[in-house]
Amino acid sequence: MSKTQPTNIYLIGFMGCGKSYLGKLLAKRLQYDFIDMDAYLEAKEGKTISQIFREDGEGAFRKLERDYLTASGDFEKTVIATGGGCPCFYDNMEWMDVSGQTIYLKTPTTILVERLQKETAHRPLLAGKSKKELTIFIDRKLEERGPYYEQAQVVFEYRTGEEGVEELMKYLK
Ligand code: S3P
Repeated sequence: MSKTQPTNIYLIGFMGCGKSYLGKLLAKRLQYDFIDMDAYLEAKEGKTISQIFREDGEGAFRKLERDYLTASGDFEKTVIATGGGCPCFYDNMEWMDVSGQTIYLKTPTTILVERLQKETAHRPLLAGKSKKELTIFIDRKLEERGPYYEQAQVVFEYRTGEEGVEELMKYLK
């Protein structure tokens, strides 16, 4: 069956902004499927992201991320949580904007730091960082990545909580 209009929703934003958490709730609410692109890539490659970074380098990871992103064009009615760096490599952001609905979950640095502090182990870009280093890193990265993230069709200020889903529903096409 060929698709006549995009039915996929791409959630983008920094690590720890709640893409998977809110994405799962949104998918349930819409009766869509949910895919976490990082988990999908890891399952397909049979390797963790940390392993790919370590063994093949970030460039190789970004290429795989791009390949699996474009493959997601074959999905239908799916909410897709993308990796935090995904919109900032290749023309991924433009690709998502024409292939589906894009939503940037914009979350303040203080909240990201609180969350990510406990979860640095499986995120190679954050491994070993103290709270202070994490804050500096996130602020710097957000400055760099903001211009990509802000190209999303919807910029949704999100802090925390499941009630975000009902709010988000108002912005969907
Ligand atoms: C990354 C974010 C991660 C993962 C990889 C790189 C990034 O995804 O893709 O560790 O560059 O911000 P999450 O945003 O799902 O943690």
